[in-house]
Amino acid sequence: MLLPFICLCVVILSYCWIKVRKAAYHDSLSLPNGPQPFPHFGNIWTLYRLSASPRKICGSFKAHYGDMTTVWMGSWPTVFINSPQGAAAGTASRPMHNNFRHTNLPDRIVVAPADDTFRNQRKTYHTILSKSASAAFHKGSDLESLLLVEKLLDGPSDFRFHCERFAINVVFQVIYGRRLGDEEDGDIADLYEIWKTMYLYFLPGTCVFDVFPSLLKLPQWMQPWYWILSILKRKEARIQKKYIEQAKWEAAASQNLECFANKLREKKGSDGINDKAHLNMLAMLLGAGSDTTSAMMQLFFKAMALHPDKVDLAHAELDRVVGGERLPVYEDAQNLPYIRALIKEVHRWAPIAVVVLGYRDYTFPKGTIFFPNIPTLNMDDTRYTDPSSFEPLRFINDSQDSVSSAQSSSHLDRDHVNYGFGRRFCPGAYVAEYAIFMAVSRILWAFDLKQIPGLEIRMDRERAGLLKKPRSFKMSITPRSQQYSNLIFGEINRINDRLENSERRDSVGGG
Ligand code: HEM
Repeated sequence: MLLPFICLCVVILSYCWIKVRKAAYHDSLSLPNGPQPFPHFGNIWTLYRLSASPRKICGSFKAHYGDMTTVWMGSWPTVFINSPQGAAAGTASRPMHNNFRHTNLPDRIVVAPADDTFRNQRKTYHTILSKSASAAFHKGSDLESLLLVEKLLDGPSDFRFHCERFAINVVFQVIYGRRLGDEEDGDIADLYEIWKTMYLYFLPGTCVFDVFPSLLKLPQWMQPWYWILSILKRKEARIQKKYIEQAKWEAAASQNLECFANKLREKKGSDGINDKAHLNMLAMLLGAGSDTTSAMMQLFFKAMALHPDKVDLAHAELDRVVGGERLPVYEDAQNLPYIRALIKEVHRWAPIAVVVLGYRDYTFPKGTIFFPNIPTLNMDDTRYTDPSSFEPLRFINDSQDSVSSAQSSSHLDRDHVNYGFGRRFCPGAYVAEYAIFMAVSRILWAFDLKQIPGLEIRMDRERAGLLKKPRSFKMSITPRSQQYSNLIFGEINRINDRLENSERRDSVGGG
């Protein structure tokens, strides 16, 4: 009888001792407020809810805790920055309290610490994706936006896959100098399926080993996350290798010398680029560019279905400026302020990134992770009037593009923060902005976008993970007129003639 009583006392006293020590430790750090952590487990429940409903939980942080919120991953503090001032101060430094990600996802810049490899890779990405260099990919985006509207005419209910095909082809042309053909749709579906799980690993706080890092000391065969990631990487590498080889043959046949895969191959041996780094950098770029752009396009469709009055205003502007005799082209952008404003508003109202991975060491314990809280920053009521409503007109007089806006001397002047911050600002933003303008203006020009009566569309139905991709939803996408559809088919025929005349492998221009 006495023994169980003593055991119980020991357990209770140990628990109290741990709790008191933890409380003392937390107090001594004087970290920003946050939900009450449990000893050892930290804020495991908040982390779980965060990954299930990121928009809602991120949104509640500012209301409950002010400009910063501390969330404990086991014994590690993570600080969510809910104010633009704090977020802009984030640097590229990327401490991980365990090095699983860095070791198992090498040469993936998003999880790289700010070392020489990071700087070299970032320079390489910036060179190929700079404003002037990315102009070389405009023809590709023109073509993809045309093929996107054609696919929407043929099969509007598959609009999610059409967005995925559109986005991957825009980036594929940057990397491999050619587009994927219809027969390669299987690779497209496989890649998105791989990224769906793989990108869960990119975000600290999503895996059980974030809370219990000692699990990483188990033998590798006992670590399921290690095996899952290895399988995904192998599958991804198999697909990438096929295209790297093709790019090599085409280079040998003097075609497509201008693509990123071949340029990077020429750099092998310098800047620490070997075969593995070559493959990983291409895989990183394809995933970072495609999954984001496709998510953004799906959120655009969702926003339009929910706001038919904004679709009407967009139609009115397109009819006035472009008319019914031709498709929109990029040169129309300067005369389409409402379309430009609408794109900015989708970025603000439905940002794809829950949090970006900007971290900063401050007077916080070394290794503290900092998350700029994007949904909250984009909903800041001191900067935006009635932030929760979708209102493109708030940007109607904003003639700056989002990349220039990100360089404003005051971060408070930024349009939105969907492309991230500082030295981690998205290097693909020029490519993305061009492609999205082409797609959005042509879709709005050609189609009526509506909710299907009786079928609810909810913004909070989204996939868990780093990117807020909507879960599958249905909406009505119908051509505005036969005349517009004929124009699209006419353009496609013109392109097909050129494709048959052997331009298939080039980044052919549409429009
Ligand atoms: C709507 C489209 C896009 C959005 C909203 C977006 C957003 C972002 C954000 C928020 C980051 C920073 C993540 C972090 O802090 O770690 C990022 C990084 C990155 N993006 Fe984009 N992106 C888009 C399209 C693209 C495209 C089209 C490309 C390539 C052609 C691209 C290439 C990259 C790369 C390579 C990085 C890693 C940069 C680094 O860690 O330094 N992105 N993007």
